[in-house]
This record gives sequence, structure tokens and C-alpha cells, in this order.
Amino acid sequence: MFDRIAPTYDVLNHLLSANTDVRWRKKAAGMLELKGSERLLDLCCGTGDLAMAMKDGGAGEVVGTDFAPEMIRIAEQKDGERIEWHIADTTDLPFDDASFDVATVGFGVRNLEDLDAGFREAHRVLRPGGRFLILEFSRPPNRVFRGVYHAYFMIVLPMIGNLVSGGGGDNAYTYLPRSVMAFPGPNALADRLKGAGFESVDITPLTGGIACIHIAHKAR
Ligand SMILES: C[S@@+](CC[C@H](N)C(=O)[O-])C[C@H]1O[C@@H](n2cnc3c(N)ncnc32)[C@H](O)[C@@H]1O
Repeated sequence: MFDRIAPTYDVLNHLLSANTDVRWRKKAAGMLELKGSERLLDLCCGTGDLAMAMKDGGAGEVVGTDFAPEMIRIAEQKDGERIEWHIADTTDLPFDDASFDVATVGFGVRNLEDLDAGFREAHRVLRPGGRFLILEFSRPPNRVFRGVYHAYFMIVLPMIGNLVSGGGGDNAYTYLPRSVMAFPGPNALADRLKGAGFESVDITPLTGGIACIHIAHKAR
């Protein structure tokens, strides 16, 4: 599915979110207060926009991984050689223990077949004191706002998404709202991160709670 949507993925992201995704990625990079010395791993990197935002935001060495070869091919094409790209499964990473200072993932963990295995891998490859940032869709707490948002997300977004990406029936843009509704809320997600070994988790809602940033800390 991800290989299939790769060619139209960027255009649709910016169109369907009215470029809000760009602001969210920039904010995520800013929150990490990167100093330039960090080795950073972006998981489920897709076409690479979050990895690139981290590089632009001041990360030192950046590595991006995704299991869809077509996503990695486009990321490589967009980026030139600033970032190291690898095809890799987030639930079984080809990196040594404690080999990164920071791990990030944008709109990726919701798609993992085994969320806890992905969290355990992120924890394993981080050094003691390392941080794991997750940028992910969420559900707005305000009932009225949630109603408007749901109408857009469940009806308008799949229509445009299916049209532009050319898929009929049960494609990625009908899957997207379903996967967001089935995903744990912010506090439940923080508990899952702690279950995978992280010591503490900070939660920051974005745009009325449409999305959320979790920053999980590995014990020193
Ligand atoms: C919605 S895209 C997000 C892409 C990118 N991070 C962004 O911010 O736009 C989700 C990505 O997760 C990848 N993915 C899903 N499960 C994965 C896994 N187990 N290992 C690696 N990548 C995975 C997909 O191939 C896809 O590129």
C-alpha cells in the first residue's frame, strides 16, 4: 500500500492538511532543541520530510529508515546526500544498541503491526538519556471541533485521497481515518511507551488535538 501511494504522498499530505504538516514537522524539530552533535534516526521515514526537517532544525548526522523501497527511493531523490537512507523494518532495526541520541517518527507508529515491538526497538537503539519523538494524529478533545474534524477526516479526505492517488475501494485514504480512530489516545500511548522501557513521556497536543507530539525519555 505504501509503495503504491509513494508518488502522490507529498502532494496529498500538503493538500489535505493545507500545509499544516509542514508546520507540525518544524515544531517537532524545534521542540528537540538540536545542537548539531546528535546522531538522529527517523523511523518509518516515508518520503523523508520529517528527517529533512530534523536536519534543517540542526541535527548532526541523520539516518532515515522505512520498509517501503519506493518511499526510500523518493526520499533519496529529494534529499541528495545530506541524509543516510536505509530500507528497514521499524520492529527489527539493523542498528547496534545505544547507537543514536534521538529517534523520531512522523505519522508512522500508527501503522506498525506490532506497536510495542517498534517502541522496544526505538528504546534499544537509543543511548541512555536519549529521546524518542513521536508526531502522530490524535482525536481532538473538544466535542464540537471533533465533530467538524471527523466529518472532514472520514468523508472529504478519503474522497480527495482516493481520487488523487488513483486507488479505488479500500485504499490508503479510507484506511487513514480508520487507523487514527483505532489508535490509542495520548495518555494510553504514553503508557505503552513506558511499557517498552521509557522512563517518562511529555505530551504536547497540536492544532486543537488533531495531532500530538510525545517525547519519551530513556533513563540515564
Ligand atoms: C504515513 S507514512 C509517514 C511517512 C513520513 N514519516 C511522514 O512524516 O510523512 C507511514 C510510513 O510508515 C512506513 N511503515 C509502516 N510500517 C513500517 C514498518 N514496520 N517498518 C518500517 N516502515 C514502516 C510506511 O512504509 C510509510 O512510509
